[in-house]
Amino acid sequence: MARPKIALIGGGNIGGVLAEQIAYRELGDVLIFDVVEGMPQGKALDMAEGAPLAGSDVSIAGTNDYKDLAGSDLVIITAGLARKPGMSRDDLLKTNLEIMKSVAKGVRDNAPDAIVIVISNPLDAMVYTFKEISGFPKNRVVGMAGVLDSTRFRSFVAWELGVSVEDVSALVLGGHGDTMVPLVRYCTVAGVPVSQFLSSDQIEAIVQRTKGAGGEVVGLLKTGSAFVSPALSAIEMAESILHDKKRVLACACLCEGEYGVDGLYVGVPCVLGANGVERVVEVELDEDDRKAFDASVEHVRSLVSQIDL
Ligand code: NAD
Ligand code: LAC
Repeated sequence: MARPKIALIGGGNIGGVLAEQIAYRELGDVLIFDVVEGMPQGKALDMAEGAPLAGSDVSIAGTNDYKDLAGSDLVIITAGLARKPGMSRDDLLKTNLEIMKSVAKGVRDNAPDAIVIVISNPLDAMVYTFKEISGFPKNRVVGMAGVLDSTRFRSFVAWELGVSVEDVSALVLGGHGDTMVPLVRYCTVAGVPVSQFLSSDQIEAIVQRTKGAGGEVVGLLKTGSAFVSPALSAIEMAESILHDKKRVLACACLCEGEYGVDGLYVGVPCVLGANGVERVVEVELDEDDRKAFDASVEHVRSLVSQIDL
């Protein structure tokens, strides 16, 4: 039985970690595509030469030619600029929009049957752009952001309580930016609401840190944004798709009526399986969360309104 073929559009910081993790976990054969001449080929060759030490027999290749995407089952897109200190994700829109338009055409024309995970920022606008340009069905186009934001929230709660990260569950919905909505009510530690362990001030501090977590890393790195945790977040989604695990994960999905949203990609819980986004899961939002979610959706709407396809 052939291994799945996973194409990575963008072989930079996140793309490199994606390639290594996918290859060394033997999730599938890896193809790294980038516009920088030789870079994807060099990274692929380096990882392939290290494969014996990971006991991996997958194929790892690099290319600058979209035609090599043929037969890809899963495509993960990180093509685009990352922000620098002082920049918001929205500041990337103008440049990354043009990049995403070319990427969407390249994937549409060479990997027409693939399921696509978009990572490039501003995420909610970039995944929308990919969907519009590619014409792929909504179940095969999903954005990675909520898994990262939810994972950050989990880490901060676990660190504050001195408990295992494995026992903290969290959901962060909405747009991937300052308006994101950590659902405190649904955050649990071993199934117990986090409000039984932390004061409201402690929880609020964690909510604010989660919203600013991307910027915190950018401020420290100075040369770019987080890339390991985003890559691992996309791997979580990829594994659910490739192994048909039907995980319920916060992802940027095209909502067509769900949560009262129509025609926008925004972070919501969904079931991820062999068909991609199998369904959006609607959870009850209290008045405050609904207000915050609606405000986040409006921010995404205003960003998408600036897109000229
Ligand atoms: P990076 O600069 O290290 O890598 C980006 C790569 O894209 C570069 O190698 C560049 O050559 C390539 N590229 C540029 N134009 C291209 C094109 N037309 N076709 C193919 N490749 C092209 O950046 P990174 O740190 O890997 O981040 C990638 C993107 O992911 C950025 O937009 C960043 O803001 C975003 N990001 C999103 C999340 C999220 O949660 N969704 C998290 C972190 C970063
Ligand atoms: C950033 C990523 C985390 O831009 O979206 O910081």
